[in-house]
Amino acid sequence: MSTLLHLDSSPMGAASVSRHLSSTFVEHWKRANPGGTVITRDLTKSGLVSITAEWVAAAYTPAESRTPEQKATLALSDKLVAELKTADEYAVGVAMHNFGVPSVLKQWIDQIARVGETFAYVDGVPKGLLSGKKATFLLAAGGTYGPGSATESFNFVEPYLKTIFGFLGVSNVAFHTAGGAAALNYGANREEFLQPHDEAVAALAAAK
Ligand SMILES: Cc1cc2nc3c(=O)[nH]c(=O)nc-3n(C[C@H](O)[C@H](O)[C@H](O)COP(=O)(O)O)c2cc1C
Repeated sequence: MSTLLHLDSSPMGAASVSRHLSSTFVEHWKRANPGGTVITRDLTKSGLVSITAEWVAAAYTPAESRTPEQKATLALSDKLVAELKTADEYAVGVAMHNFGVPSVLKQWIDQIARVGETFAYVDGVPKGLLSGKKATFLLAAGGTYGPGSATESFNFVEPYLKTIFGFLGVSNVAFHTAGGAAALNYGANREEFLQPHDEAVAALAAAK
């Protein structure tokens, strides 16, 4: 049976477009995977913190040599890494903030990029350890950053996520972006705006 890890990073609750799209994905994924398991992880409610010098020292200390304090420092990271390893697939709701990912998503990435756990050095070359996993990113942005547009180079969300997940061994990635979401602040109809995105996301969730 498949397991899906569902992550959300928008602080906007019910008004969030990326949360709407990730929940659409989960709904259709469940239909396509009866009996599958969904792990839900809301990054805005996970007590995420920035990594510290103590965290880095603990992460680079072999597991069997860690002090009780170092184990406690890595406790949340261990839990998040275990979720990534358990799941076969990831669905990640991502809001564009200041042309990048929300700070909680960056904090999560810093917590799960762990030497010996999610990547390793083999003959001095980094190797991702999450191979065989699939990730689908459900993005929302106020503006549009299409290929060839004047603002294409402003978009650090997709390139960053592709790079960091690729580094961790997840090369099977799909993206769906609801661009132009700022229109919702200026009177655009939410249902009409979301409808084509829901259809595209449903198709992504049903795809094997
Ligand atoms: C703090 C903040 C920063 C934002 N920065 C950008 C930005 O750099 N580029 C952009 O196109 N939209 C930006 N937006 C608009 C959001 O991307 C847009 O509202 C989108 O719907 C966010 O996803 P969400 O609805 O899931 O929260 C920003 C919104 C907020 C609240």
